[in-house]
Amino acid sequence: LPQPCRRQDTPPTPLTENISQLAATMTETGIFSADLLSLEVQAELPQGYKFRALRRSDYDTGFLDCLRVLTTVGDISKAQFEAQYDTMSRPGSGYYILVVEDTNTSPPRVVGTGAVIVERKFIHGLGSVGHIEDIAVAKDQQGKKLGLRIIQALDYIAANTGCYKTILDCSEANEGFYVKCGFRRAGLEMAHYH
Ligand code: ACO
Repeated sequence: LPQPCRRQDTPPTPLTENISQLAATMTETGIFSADLLSLEVQAELPQGYKFRALRRSDYDTGFLDCLRVLTTVGDISKAQFEAQYDTMSRPGSGYYILVVEDTNTSPPRVVGTGAVIVERKFIHGLGSVGHIEDIAVAKDQQGKKLGLRIIQALDYIAANTGCYKTILDCSEANEGFYVKCGFRRAGLEMAHYH
């Protein structure tokens, strides 16, 4: 008798793999809830550019290349990236890492990023402070107001997670950018490197 066709014996075609990978990416959740993305700020992005939360699958989507515009990233493996993501995405850890994705390209590319880390305190009636960190826009995408929109989107997250202020450290060379984003000089940064 002829054997019935058994689907599990058939290796998936590259197309099937691509579709299932795409479906997994589309349903994948990020490091924070999409409810914290400001629709108002999103509407100000150029056509086809979108905000989303960093995902575990962002190892090779352009996220690390954006950070390389800011500073040294080092030679990190995919496993190391995923382990760091798993630590940072634990409930209550306070990491809100945002990316801007250009969906005009195939595949879409991450062209900008920024983070706000929400620090809980005992002072100010158990207040929280948002620390803005690691703002970076890909070299070929600078000057399109993406940096400004990232800061506005992070400010929205900070305000909607109960922060009473948002603070950051930057070089003198970037002061003008942050002034345009509504920040002002306050205090003095000190550091002790280990
Ligand atoms: N100094 C003064 N003004 C600036 C600067 C600057 N360094 N950079 C941008 N601006 C101005 C722009 O001209 C624009 O002004 P306008 O509204 O009058 O036109 C306004 O700020 C908004 O600029 P964007 O187009 O949003 O800036 P961009 O998308 O290029 O992003 C950024 C700016 C993030 C500084 C980008 O150049 C970058 O990634 N630089 C390298 C990495 C870096 O230095 N990141 C910041 C580190 S500090 C931190 O992470 C807390």
